[in-house]
Amino acid sequence: MPSITVEPCTFALFGALGDLALRKLFPALYQLDGAGLLHDDTRILALAREAGTEQQHLAHIEKELRSYVGKELDETIAQRFLARLTYVHVDFKNADDYVALAEKVGSEQRLIAYFATPAAVYGAICENLAKAGLAENTRVVLEKPIGSDLESSRKVNDAVAQFFPENRTYRIDHYLGKETVQNLIALRFANSLFETQWNQNYISHVEITVAEQVGIEGRWGYFDKAGQLRDMIQNHLLQLLCLIAMDPPADLSADSIRDEKVKVLKALAPISPEGLTTQVVRGQYIAGYSAGKPVPGYLEEENSNTQSDTETFVALRADIRNWRWAGVPFYLRTGKRMPQKLSQIVIHFKEPSHYIFAPEQRLQISNKLIIRLQPDEGISLRVMTKEQGLDKGMQLRSGPLQLNFSDTYRSARIPDAYERLLLEVMRGNQNLFVRKDEIEAAWKWCDQLIAGWKKSGDAPKPYAAGSWGPMSSIALITRDGRSWYGDI
Ligand code: BG6
Repeated sequence: MPSITVEPCTFALFGALGDLALRKLFPALYQLDGAGLLHDDTRILALAREAGTEQQHLAHIEKELRSYVGKELDETIAQRFLARLTYVHVDFKNADDYVALAEKVGSEQRLIAYFATPAAVYGAICENLAKAGLAENTRVVLEKPIGSDLESSRKVNDAVAQFFPENRTYRIDHYLGKETVQNLIALRFANSLFETQWNQNYISHVEITVAEQVGIEGRWGYFDKAGQLRDMIQNHLLQLLCLIAMDPPADLSADSIRDEKVKVLKALAPISPEGLTTQVVRGQYIAGYSAGKPVPGYLEEENSNTQSDTETFVALRADIRNWRWAGVPFYLRTGKRMPQKLSQIVIHFKEPSHYIFAPEQRLQISNKLIIRLQPDEGISLRVMTKEQGLDKGMQLRSGPLQLNFSDTYRSARIPDAYERLLLEVMRGNQNLFVRKDEIEAAWKWCDQLIAGWKKSGDAPKPYAAGSWGPMSSIALITRDGRSWYGDI
């Protein structure tokens, strides 16, 4: 039996027939039900504006649920879960439709309104919920992207804030729900071993790589307006950077953690015009191979236009201007159509201050802490030991002290990020959600980069699908006398 109690709620999912809802949200709710983490009285309202009958839409949701949950689907849980579902036709901008919605919602339990819709309608949904008397006590959940720059994100946030206070607004960054990201907080703040070393005296640099093997997957229309900087760096990679770089919070409360993250974002050094060529690399994939099969370039993808200069890859060096991190670069790298799916953080510790081993071994001397988010979630600390054997003298070797979550805790399934996030919304815990000032500070930093790119007019550098990005992304780090870990 779960040790957590969750209050009953009415979970209203706007955009219930969209890709995110079908692929991630319904399966996550199903898993919560299976884990005994949905209250018996919790109901789910699937809201969409598509024509068709309730029966047709519910059948479609069920079919997709079965396909996304796959073989592990349990029939008893599935039946219990499907019985919670009601479909309601709502044109998000039409206030009249919310009157019917209000009747379905009732007043007995808390409403959670999840917006899996374009951010452009968040304001209208909030206003209509309020007009229909559905705003009081309601929690709203906003999906990314919230805007495409500081100004547009402010507009969205302000429109929502007219009706919902910050303490009932939950902004999703699904990376914050990933198991290993959670573990970062435990690793850093439950082990004095690391925290005492966690600064510029002991750490030389940090790498954050979020590589995807997939290309654009039919999302060209959205992606081409965004690009990899807005789609991945502005949110996921900067959030990871914050969790690595933040000072210890006073406690685990949402605001203590978020206060510390905001400080990091505000301390990020803007990238200078010269830095745009030495510190940042934009790339766009051209045709190549993925998993041994030929794949088209970005400009040849379905529904593409052949002129786009949107980046599908970014590598950059970020510097944090504070006492803890002065002189410690954070190298960030993310791209589509990389050789494999890999999200990992590598903390490189400095060399010992006095070196006594054979000079040719010097290169490998430095401890590394590798935090693997996906796949094979785990943490590994590379330490130097001596090669075994009489004939080896003092020959060193680097080996891992390893904690592999999927092996170590084999019985436990690693939950999807959305399961944790939905559970935390139901529990009213904002820890894993992004506050308005965080989003704005992240946009501010990204905006100056985007403006610099626009001004320079430089096209992104081509890289072959299935490679680790343009050659200049290697030069970016070798210029500082380093290389990407495992390069990988
Ligand atoms: C999303 C981006 O936020 O994250 C996608 O919009 C990207 O472009 C996805 O593919 C990656 O998430 P994950 O969990 O698969 O690493």
